[in-house]
This record gives sequence, structure tokens and C-alpha cells, in this order.
Amino acid sequence: MEKIRTQAEDAEKSMDKTQKQTENMVKSMDKIRNLTEDTIIEGADIVRTFKMGEVEVRALRSVNVRIRRGEFVAIMGPSGSGKTTLLNQLGLLDTPNSGKVIIDGTDTSRMSDREKGKFRLHNLGYVFQDYALLPELNAMENVYISLMMQGKSKTECESAAAEILAAVGLGDRLQQLPSKMSGGQQQRVSIARALAHSPRVLFADEPCANLDSETSKEVLDLFEKFNKEKGQTIVMVTHEEWHAKYADRVIKLKDGIVQE
Ligand SMILES: Nc1ncnc2c1ncn2[C@@H]1O[C@H](COP(=O)(O)OP(=O)(O)OP(=O)(O)O)[C@@H](O)[C@H]1O
Ligand SMILES: [Mg+2]
Repeated sequence: MEKIRTQAEDAEKSMDKTQKQTENMVKSMDKIRNLTEDTIIEGADIVRTFKMGEVEVRALRSVNVRIRRGEFVAIMGPSGSGKTTLLNQLGLLDTPNSGKVIIDGTDTSRMSDREKGKFRLHNLGYVFQDYALLPELNAMENVYISLMMQGKSKTECESAAAEILAAVGLGDRLQQLPSKMSGGQQQRVSIARALAHSPRVLFADEPCANLDSETSKEVLDLFEKFNKEKGQTIVMVTHEEWHAKYADRVIKLKDGIVQE
């Protein structure tokens, strides 16, 4: 009798163990699923070479990167290491020789140039080193025009432009022309323009390269604000260690290869 009871208890214990193991397995499967679902950009085996006459420049040699939703990532590396080339592949501004860029589950390598253009317009935002504002348009119009291209109504464009310019601290400079603004102010207009349509990802290529330290800090503080408060995913190329400190993670490039 005693033996049977012990056997029954043992069987119960082993069932408990199996149940725990199953629960743990389900938990780790959930974790894996969450990780995959949380990926906003995946670059797989990206190769980009440029032909310069007879010479072939291998700017990216089979690069693999994964960026999570809401992540702030910095891309660093020496000059010529392929930072801009990588940003341009992930931001669909260029096409790799081989490999894939998957954004939010969409395999962009299957898109035509026209589809890519449309996808960029609606889903991605860009900030460049030289601000790239239209000089004859004021702050409001520079933001307004990119919203208008997305087919939004006049009232929608006006209110969204005013709102985002206020969010970058330029609410009192809506009518100002770029030529009458400091570099930092111009870069803030370009950030407003890039973020006005709430893009899934903001790409920035050395956004502070033309700014002094104090103004750079203002721009980086803005990035941090949008990342922390709105969960904005940001991919930023930078040369400066202290800029990269704002990011959650650094992707280091050397000679077109990601350094582990
Ligand atoms: N359009 C192009 N035609 C030819 N070569 C190119 C082109 N774009 C980039 N390259 C080359 O590819 C390599 C990587 O360039 P990339 O501009 O990506 O470097 P980077 O890391 O951004 O450099 P930097 O810090 O100077 O901006 C370099 O050798 C560059 O000369
Ligand atoms: Mg560059």
C-alpha cells in the first residue's frame, strides 16, 4: 500500500515537472515570437558594391542588422566604412546588389521603384547633415509641402505642421525663411518635416555634423524626447561617441562589415 502511494506521489511530481517544462517552453516561444514581432527593420545579407571605372568598391559586405520597434540605434565607424551606404539601404534610398530589407514585415526587395517611393513617403522620415530645406519656403511651408505630397487636406496639413513645429520649439517662427534661421533652427525644421507624418522609422545621417556642441545637444535632446515619449524608432549615423550615448545601441561598421 505504502509502495503504491509513493509511486502515485512520484507520478504526480513528474507530471508537475512536465507541466512546468511545458509552461517554460510556451514562455520561451512567446519570447521568441515577441522578439520577431518587435523587429521593425531587418537587413539580411546586404551587399552593396559601387563600380568606379575598373575599380569595384565593396561598401557593404554581407551586412545583417535587426532593429527593434522603438529602438534608438546609432551607426558608427571610420570615414568610408559604409555608414551612409547602410543607412541608405535600410531607408530605401538605394538598392543593394543582393540581400533584403524587410520593414515591418514587408519585404521591400519585391517592390518596384514606384512602390518604394510611395512607401518612403508614407512610412519613413529623413534628416540630413545639410538640412535640405527649400530656401524659398518658410518653416511652415517646408513642413506643409511634404504633408501635402501625402495627399492630406489643407486644414490637416496646416494643423499638423503647426503642431510639430511647436513640438520642436519653433512655434513662434512659422513664417521664417531658412536663410533667417540658425543652423540649429534649420535642423529643427527638417526634424519637424521628417516627423510630421509620424513615420515608422526616422533615419538621420550625421544630423549634427554642421552644428556646435550646444546646438547638437538640443537636436539630440529632441531625438531623445521623440524616442522616449512617442516611441519613435530612430537610426542615426554619427562620428561622435557622445552623440552615440543617446542611443540604446551602437552598430559599429568597419570596411563594410558589422563589428561584433
Ligand atoms: N555613389 C558612390 N559611388 C562610388 N563609391 C561610393 C558611392 N557611395 C559610397 N561609395 C564608397 O563606398 C564606401 C562607403 O561609403 P560611405 O559613404 O557609406 O561611408 P561613410 O561611412 O558614410 O563615410 P563618411 O563618414 O565619410 O560619411 C566608400 O569607399 C565610398 O567611397
Ligand atoms: Mg557618410
